[in-house]
Amino acid sequence: MRTPIIAGNWKMNNGSAETRELIGQLIRRFSCRSKVSIAIFPSFPYLYESSRLLEGKVIRLGAQDLHWETQGAFTGEVSGMMLRDVGCDYVIVGHSERRHIFKESNEQVLLKLKAALRAGLHPILCVGETLEEREDGSMEQVVRAQLKGLSEFTLEEITNLVLAYEPVWAIGTGKTASPEEAQNMHAFIRRWIQKHFGNYLSDKMIILYGGSVKPENIKELMARPDIDGALVGGASLDAGSFSAIIQGACETVKEN
Ligand code: PGA
Repeated sequence: MRTPIIAGNWKMNNGSAETRELIGQLIRRFSCRSKVSIAIFPSFPYLYESSRLLEGKVIRLGAQDLHWETQGAFTGEVSGMMLRDVGCDYVIVGHSERRHIFKESNEQVLLKLKAALRAGLHPILCVGETLEEREDGSMEQVVRAQLKGLSEFTLEEITNLVLAYEPVWAIGTGKTASPEEAQNMHAFIRRWIQKHFGNYLSDKMIILYGGSVKPENIKELMARPDIDGALVGGASLDAGSFSAIIQGACETVKEN
């Protein structure tokens, strides 16, 4: 059975006071292990404080990005080793805002993925097409190109990997992919994993959906066979809506 993950990507939001407040509210609501894993992704400056607040709690911590080198003259960058050091378990790699605003290429994303795995983190690799690519029918080709680098890894190396399908046109727009659209792409991704790594890994691989996930749509998304949780942006900034999403996910956990 795949344990779903609900991950809250705070992006460049929440200062110290908001971080403490939001984590406090989440800890009060989720004090014991449930059917769903929960992770939050605050900004770099608040990771250490967040890690201390989350000590001994069920909510896991992640970072939003990392650099591919372990250390050295890379002004402004943060390595996987540093993220482990401050208590992160997860790191987001290749988020569409990194790919599109900061022009990260598939090659750079692959280097980051290698660095994350080397550091013992669980990378959440984001893939997804733009609206133009969906409309011209090249979406599977685009996602296949984003997955391609994975074939360089061994089965052992990528057991810690989590995937997230995030159609770019659904991120922060209020437009969610329909459960059918999301399921079709998740099934495509799982088939790709199966072709390259076999049944064991494809049955086990967690594939999250991301893009305008809200309390109102989590259940219909999670009801689809290949959707194993969500990477939530905007709705993770409010304890009420993030908790309602976690609750919805718990109610739709499937036995697979
Ligand atoms: P959103 O963001 O939920 O605000 O659409 C999702 C994401 O960027 O991971």
